[in-house]
Formats: sequence, C-alpha cells, structure tokens
Amino acid sequence: MIDQRTEQEILADLRDAFAAQYGDADGARFFFAPGRVNLIGEHTDYNGGHVFPCALTIGTFAAVRRRGDDRIRLFSMNGKEERFVEYTTGDLAPEGKSGWTMYPLGVVWAFAGRGMKLPAGFEMAICGNIPNGSGLSSSASLEVLTGYVLRELYGFPVDNVELAKIGQYSENNYNGMNCGIMDQFASAMGKRDHAIFLDTADLSYTYAPVVLDGMKLVITNSRVKHQLTDSGYNDRRRTCEAALADLQRVADIRALGELTPEEFEEKKSAIADDDRRRKAKHAVYENARTVRAVEALQAGDIDTFGRLMNESHVSLRDDYDVSCPEVDILAEEAWKIPGVLGARITGGGFGGCTVAIVKDEAVPEYREKIGSVYREKTGLDAEFYVVEIGDGPKELS
Ligand code: GLA
Repeated sequence: MIDQRTEQEILADLRDAFAAQYGDADGARFFFAPGRVNLIGEHTDYNGGHVFPCALTIGTFAAVRRRGDDRIRLFSMNGKEERFVEYTTGDLAPEGKSGWTMYPLGVVWAFAGRGMKLPAGFEMAICGNIPNGSGLSSSASLEVLTGYVLRELYGFPVDNVELAKIGQYSENNYNGMNCGIMDQFASAMGKRDHAIFLDTADLSYTYAPVVLDGMKLVITNSRVKHQLTDSGYNDRRRTCEAALADLQRVADIRALGELTPEEFEEKKSAIADDDRRRKAKHAVYENARTVRAVEALQAGDIDTFGRLMNESHVSLRDDYDVSCPEVDILAEEAWKIPGVLGARITGGGFGGCTVAIVKDEAVPEYREKIGSVYREKTGLDAEFYVVEIGDGPKELS
C-alpha cells in the first residue's frame, strides 16, 4: 500500500524512532531524496542513449546526526529484518556485508574511494514511502539521500550530478547491480513538474515541463517482482555489449545509442545471433523513440507522446524480453480504455509497475477495469498511485 502519512507525520515518526534508537533526537537533521518514474527511454541508459525520467514526491526520509567517534549506525523503519546495523568508518569493505545497509554503506565507501573519508561517524534512521519492490527506485533514493547527507554533514565538495555518479558507482561496484545512471540522476536532479531529458552519452540534460492539462500520471503496481531481476538485468547489459562489439566491426561507434534506426537496419547483419540482434534493435529504436517523444511533448502533442509510450512497451515486451505476463495485462488492458493516452512498463522490468497518462475523467474507470481484469487473470490486487512530479534531494525542517 502507498503510505498515507503526510510528510510532517513521517518526520514526527522518524524523530521518535531516532530518539528511541539513539537516546534522543537533539541536534538531528532531516533529509529527503525522491524515487523516480521513467516516462520513456528504457534500457537505453547503459547504451549511451536518451532517457526521460522524473522524480516523484515519494522517496526516502532520513534523520541524521554526526557522532564524535568512528561508529556508523544505521536504522530503518521499513522492513522486518536487520533493522539496525552498526559499522565503523574503518570497516567499509563490501565483504561480509548484506541487506539494505549495503546501499548507504556503499555510498560512504564510494566517497572514501574518492578521497572523501569520514572524519567521524554518524547515526541515521531512515523511512521510505515508496511501495516495496515496485521498481520506483527506492535504492537509488537511498543512495542519493546518503550522498546528500554526507555532503551536508561533513561539507564534502560534491554537486548533485556527482551524487548521482557516486550512487551509480556504489550500486555497480558495491551491490553488484550493473545499472545505468538514470535512477540516481533522476533522484539527484529532480525538478517539480518537469521530466529530465538526459543524454547518457555525455550527461547533458534539459528539463522539459510536463504539462498534463486534464490528465493524470498514474502508476500501476503489478505487485510482482520476479526472481532474477538483477541477473536478468545484468544479462541484458552483457547482450548489448556483445551486439555493440559485433557492430563495431562494421561501424565506427562507441555505443548503440549512436546509431539511427536506419543505420542499424543497414548494419544489423553484422550481429549474427538473432536474439542479440533483437535486443540491440530495442536499444536503438527506443533511443530514437525517446527523442521523438520529447519533441512531441514539447510541441504539446500528448497523443503522439502516448502512442510512443505504447510502442516502447511493445518493444520491451517483444524484443527486449523484460516484461512479464502480469505487467503485460496492466499495459494491454490500459490501451483498451479510451481515456488512456499511453501506458507502458517502467523501470528495469521483470515485474514492477506501468506508467500511464490518463484523462482525469477516465481515472475511475481505469482503476476499476484494470483492477478487476487483473484480479480475474492473476488473483492479485494491483495498486494505483496518482503521482506528482517532485524536486530532488533536500533538507527538511
Ligand atoms: C533500472 C536501472 C536503470 C535503467 C532502467 C531501465 O531502473 O537502474 O539504470 O537501466 O532499469 O531503463
């Protein structure tokens, strides 16, 4: 379920939890970093392509305080196991570590690796209001939050783009998830009512206003998360690298994102393996689709934007093989509803959520129809979140 508490209620609960865990909350500071939803441009960020995500108003909150000794004490109000773990600033290596604390600790480790060693420890309590396992980047929000906290507590000279890079680095090298930069970038650089048009080839970006007059952004959670999410993801990434190596024999390129669909069609026979060719095709076409979608949005043409969202889903389902029967039901049922402009799987895939643009008056029908067909076909209750696009990380008072 989505957390119904207001920000003030979450902060009050967090203050209490912090005080219960660490004796009192005197001098504690409060921070927030958002989760994200990607509107279009999926599995393009590790192929040097474009993405178009936005930060959400849900994310992860923290209460933190510097310590005088070398202890790093981490407590989570979410989850059931290992809610409290203690480390020291001298014990940051990933070996022997497990669980959720790998995310904040990985960021501390990545800061240290860049010469920003903590002069003293800290204690932190966190509370997230992103639904569990939904694929709305709770881990990236925790990474960006930790980086932001370290900067504010110790005065490290890092800007928000650097926070995103550090988050991705620690996720890749500390947590073994070979993600691209999209999630951390969206969290660190979020801007209210705007999506971020990011070129992952060089990290150049612009903010595009998302003006949805008479429409809502609706996220639908399948509430399934298939095993192999991380290994399936890493596997896709390797397949794209192999396809790139094949293409480099006939084209002078550094990434799949450098090819237009036309160039890909000309050169694709260099990829002998059929499966590999289909995956590379997705990366190339999805990148072109993303550029076109942003142009359409900027021209106020939401119909085209929505149609491209649908095409993105089909490509992720049929060519990239990262959808699953449950999420396909959510997208395909959405397409049947007249007030839906577009709907697609969002994020890494293998379960998780769809994102849809739905006319205000069609939202009740959307929930009812999709909810009941989904229950009938899977026995599961989907969840629906009408979301707002929010800002990046911040300190709260
Ligand atoms: C996950 C990764 C991102 C990106 C998406 C797919 O969310 O963390 O870097 O690759 O999948 O677009």
